[in-house]
Amino acid sequence: MNWDDETASAHEERIVGAAAEGDDQAVEAALRPKDLGEFIGQEKVRQQLDLVLKAARQRGATADHVLLSGAPGLGKTTLSMIIAAEMNAPIRITSGPAIQHAGDLAAILSSLQEGEILFLDEIHRMSRPAEEMLYMAMEDFRVDVIVGKGPGATAIPLDLPPFTLVGATTRAGLLPPPLRDRFGFTAHMEFYEPHELERVVTRSAGLLDVEIDPAGAAEIAGRSRGTPRIANRLLRRVRDYAQVRADGVITREVAGAALGVYEVDSRGLDRLDRAVLEALLKLFGGGPVGLSTLAVAVGEERETVEEVAEPFLVREGLLARTPRGRVATPAAWTHLGLVPPQAAGPAGAGPGQQGLFGS
Ligand SMILES: Nc1ncnc2c1ncn2[C@@H]1O[C@H](COP(=O)(O)OP(=O)(O)OP(=O)(O)O)[C@@H](O)[C@H]1O
Ligand SMILES: [Mg+2]
Repeated sequence: MNWDDETASAHEERIVGAAAEGDDQAVEAALRPKDLGEFIGQEKVRQQLDLVLKAARQRGATADHVLLSGAPGLGKTTLSMIIAAEMNAPIRITSGPAIQHAGDLAAILSSLQEGEILFLDEIHRMSRPAEEMLYMAMEDFRVDVIVGKGPGATAIPLDLPPFTLVGATTRAGLLPPPLRDRFGFTAHMEFYEPHELERVVTRSAGLLDVEIDPAGAAEIAGRSRGTPRIANRLLRRVRDYAQVRADGVITREVAGAALGVYEVDSRGLDRLDRAVLEALLKLFGGGPVGLSTLAVAVGEERETVEEVAEPFLVREGLLARTPRGRVATPAAWTHLGLVPPQAAGPAGAGPGQQGLFGS
């Protein structure tokens, strides 16, 4: 399996609910921490959530609605399940794109049990009418079910049992303020520190029954882009390599060699990231170049470059998004072992560009 494709599509696939990742997805589920104590890192979020949940439990009440925001693979779905486990409550899982009509949402809401956790993944992708229904449901535990059409339509009010909505989004900024404001608590998930990912890798290796030494775990953690899902994925690929080409034990050497085979470099850049950077440097002299042009140059969709490769490259300080287009930073040249064009000036339409487009 190709990681780039997997990263690009993982999001979409899980949203649609297709279990297309098969084996890997089953392993991912098995590696999910089950309670807050097992959840590594995110100290602030853990503390905040611990308070919110403990207080609700002490009062014998339903916990306030929680919004989890953060990049893919940081543990939002995991946390929603932990919330249910900590509250000893059942959980219903759905996602924004799955709710096309207000009626879909009404059906889900009206079948909730008291205290149930409703996990709404990708909540920013819900339809407008459903969103408006959700406002009232969150605030007053009530929905108006519209029966009939046109002037004869009537709204039948329906009381709901108290429930806890756990919304997850990779794009908190896209949430309309009225929706955002109805959450009692918003948890912002940050990227993980390498030492935290080392613990994730070590824990997962234990669960997968793979032998790993601390240097091996550090090597994998360092290439995991601050993301536990990626750490687990790299671990599985390194495990394959260790099993087939080495004696099964993951050391720094084994991890390094394995990740070399899978084209994950020392900073965690994968094939797509490197392709984007290489095109930017070699074809466009470091930019600025438009996103569409860059995407065509690497044979990918605009969205893939923008949403899969760029966020990490920007975060790593290798690429900048400017009003005139994408620009490589000096660190990008260094990382790919290339020398920036002479006297090209600060990433502008300098002499470095003239040759390319033949004036
Ligand atoms: N804090 C953590 N400690 C240990 N493992 C974690 C942690 N957070 C996430 N993981 C692991 O990473 C994997 C991905 O986490 P999860 O599915 O919860 O991410 P997500 O934020 O919901 O991603 P997406 O936005 O793509 O839905 C899980 O299988 C879990 O094993
Ligand atoms: Mg998720």
